[in-house]
Amino acid sequence: MHKHHSALGLATAPFGIACAADIAKLNPVQPVTLIRPHAARRAARFFIERFPGRSLYAVKANPSPDLLRILWDSGITHYDVASIAEVRLVADILPEAVQCFMHPVKAEEVIAEAYALGVRTFSLDTMEELEKIMRATGGAQDLNLCVRIRVSSDHAKLSLAGKFGAEPEEMKALLMAARQASDALGICFHVGSQAMTPAAYSEAMERVRAAIVEAAVTVDIVDVGGGFPSVYPGMEPPPLETYFEVIHRAFESLPISYSAELWCEPGRALCAEYASLLVRVEKRRGDQLYINDGAYGALFDAAHIGWRFPVKLVRDEDSNARDMAFSFYGPTCDDLDHMAGPFHLPADVGPGDYVEIGMLGAYGCAMRTGFNGFGTVARVEMTDEPMATLYGEDAGEDARNNVVKL
Ligand SMILES: Cc1ncc(COP(=O)(O)O)c(C=O)c1O
Repeated sequence: MHKHHSALGLATAPFGIACAADIAKLNPVQPVTLIRPHAARRAARFFIERFPGRSLYAVKANPSPDLLRILWDSGITHYDVASIAEVRLVADILPEAVQCFMHPVKAEEVIAEAYALGVRTFSLDTMEELEKIMRATGGAQDLNLCVRIRVSSDHAKLSLAGKFGAEPEEMKALLMAARQASDALGICFHVGSQAMTPAAYSEAMERVRAAIVEAAVTVDIVDVGGGFPSVYPGMEPPPLETYFEVIHRAFESLPISYSAELWCEPGRALCAEYASLLVRVEKRRGDQLYINDGAYGALFDAAHIGWRFPVKLVRDEDSNARDMAFSFYGPTCDDLDHMAGPFHLPADVGPGDYVEIGMLGAYGCAMRTGFNGFGTVARVEMTDEPMATLYGEDAGEDARNNVVKL
């Protein structure tokens, strides 16, 4: 029964594999990550062609070297990194890439190493961080310094408002000091992840405007951060173009120089569609399915913040049973290893069945640990479509139609 299992150690699909059902037929014991390079390419092209400025990729969302190469080949030249390990990784995989260190709290040693590796763009939200950057770079004259302003996360599903960002009243002194110390001066913010309305950005841009007016400094870069949504059950955002239009309009009306640059740093939106996961049901107890991946694997967000992902029963023949709501338990021995869902699957699903869990390319694969001896996954490259997309022909419409079915 398991005789084909070794085939799943391959990085690309064994000959003849066209869809998740073909993989399920091989009866894999471990979860299998299904990679869709074409989906990442499509997302990158979308941002490059339609975002009215420069798009950086936020590496934390998925640091897979394969994905980094795909994004680079698709035209993403700048990378938002937030740790020295990410700096080293990008320097190694994409030596020509421009790296921007957008974590506002860094160790001085880390700043020095990043600078030595060619990083020139750093974010900060305190005077102390500015002083650290100056000391660690020996008072370098070639820095791009981005001051992060705190903005609301009210429109986002995942807040990033608590931890970082200078208060509006701290911005004047920070901007004036950073202006003195930088070649190019930027303002950056993050509206929180999975921002469900473009208003998140227009409201944040109002804070940026007020800060620029008050400090009366020349600003060269406005970085609107990440937060661009993907599509999940119960979270159907408006088309991304509407975000881009709102951002463009707000940027155009800022009191900044004609040559100022507009940047964004999407993580989720560039890679959510890149990967899904094929899991096996090992046990059923009522409406609870015990599966072979979970909170310590790619389902961290499903377990810890109740994020819902699309699911699909993968069988040769479609089930005729009506759908019912299930929750999942992961493979470790912890009660915490529980994903409440609800995940809607045919009522006859049971042990031995395979389930595809979609949209795990961002903050899914990246979160995996080896806790309790689990965490081994095979990876197979697919050519079929992700379970939902924001980047179809009529992108927004497609996404909404898909979600209704999920
Ligand atoms: C500074 C910064 N930029 C970009 C991102 C990516 O955000 P998202 O995945 O919501 O696009 C993050 C996420 O935490 C971040 O902290």
